[in-house]
Amino acid sequence: MAQLWGGRFTKETDQLVYNFNASIEFDKKFYRQDMEGSIAHVKMLGKQGILTEQESREIVTAIREILKEVEAGTLEISHEYEDIHSFVEAALIERLGDTGKKLHTGRSRNDQVALDMRLFTRQEVLETDELLNELLNVILTIMENNVDTYMPGFTHLQKAQPVTLAHHLGAYFEMFKRDRQRMEDIYRRMNYCPLGSGALAGTTYDLDRYDTARQMGFTGPTLNSMDGVSDRDYLIEFLSALSTIMMHLSRFSEEVIIWNSNEYQFVEIDDAYSTGSSIMPQKKNPDIAELVRGKTGRVYGTLISLLTTMKGIPLAYNKDMQEDKELTFDAMDTVKGCLALFTGMLSTMKFCREQMEASAKHGFTNATDAADYLVNHGVPFRDAHGIVGKLVLYCIEKQAAIDDLSLKELKEISPVFEEDIFEAVSMETCVKKRLTIGAPGQEAMKEVIALEREYLSHDWKQTLEDWETELLK
Ligand code: ARG
Repeated sequence: MAQLWGGRFTKETDQLVYNFNASIEFDKKFYRQDMEGSIAHVKMLGKQGILTEQESREIVTAIREILKEVEAGTLEISHEYEDIHSFVEAALIERLGDTGKKLHTGRSRNDQVALDMRLFTRQEVLETDELLNELLNVILTIMENNVDTYMPGFTHLQKAQPVTLAHHLGAYFEMFKRDRQRMEDIYRRMNYCPLGSGALAGTTYDLDRYDTARQMGFTGPTLNSMDGVSDRDYLIEFLSALSTIMMHLSRFSEEVIIWNSNEYQFVEIDDAYSTGSSIMPQKKNPDIAELVRGKTGRVYGTLISLLTTMKGIPLAYNKDMQEDKELTFDAMDTVKGCLALFTGMLSTMKFCREQMEASAKHGFTNATDAADYLVNHGVPFRDAHGIVGKLVLYCIEKQAAIDDLSLKELKEISPVFEEDIFEAVSMETCVKKRLTIGAPGQEAMKEVIALEREYLSHDWKQTLEDWETELLK
């Protein structure tokens, strides 16, 4: 048991209490961020004359050594320490003696952990954004190649009107684009530095909080020290955005599973992204899509868990907040894994054009267009709706599509129909005529695709203030 705060105590901590309280098992995940924050802090202490320049330099050098050894595997992050902060401080004291003991001047673990988690999450936001960007690129390429690939559009999972594969996937493009925009919003809102908030009320040292914020690429320091140590909103926002990504991935997965089914055969998932059955030799299962759909629940669970943890906590820091880590780390890894795998599955998936088109031709997806034809020839819409309803009934009995009927049969249902009805209800016409922006018509679709290409050609991450941290080098 190695702890930082033994002075006030006369008895050893009970072993079970110690185990229950310790966080090193999971907070070691941000050892880099912890060391980065310590270096920035100590450099600032040196500049401010709170430590001597010499002490500051010695500590910075020693922390960099500790980092190198940890990464080389020659120094193990020992679970004997309560948390990553204690481990780093102990390793420093072992090397520098009394100078090492000065590291924690003007700092509390409360602002330290708030900083570490923020630095870690900020990086996660960027990585998640990049994975979304890759997914968007894959989707847009498929769209560009499929403006003429017809398929049925559905409502209630019943065939409704013909669309194209480009149009259908374009809906997902919009969803994941908004997910990226959320990453940018979150990044900009969270990018303030809590270091220097102390335990809750700042410190009596003349810290330069603008300096530490700048060293670590933050927009500035947080402006209230109690909020600085107890804000976890940014995690809740991130988990909410991650949950939304999973909701989108899960809907898309559900469609892939349906499309890949024996009944639909709209797509064929690549062998590399499918799995077999131990008993049924014919099986090729969409396990990746099912797992993505399945993992959605655990990401939602994390969001609800943290919201619940936070809701009753009085200001400022309380130990409840240590619970912000384990599940959040799991959610971050889960979403990144799902995004990468889904993108791989999508980019290797085969779309079966003939099946999709054949399916779009059946199921009366052109019934609305038949009604519109009548409307264009002077029939009030409600009457046209009724006439086409009868027409559909007739077709069902005959097991035929509207365009399979003869003009004579059509005229028996309504004399308004003429030879040009066949052209008017062909699948190609039904799609082509839908040309308001956002609709599946090829001309409208090409306009949207060009806009989205333009969107993808700029990366908001590159507009971030240019800073390259030298702190860990
Ligand atoms: N492990 C703690 C956490 O994750 C670090 C902060 C400890 N602060 C304290 N006052 N006990 O929140």
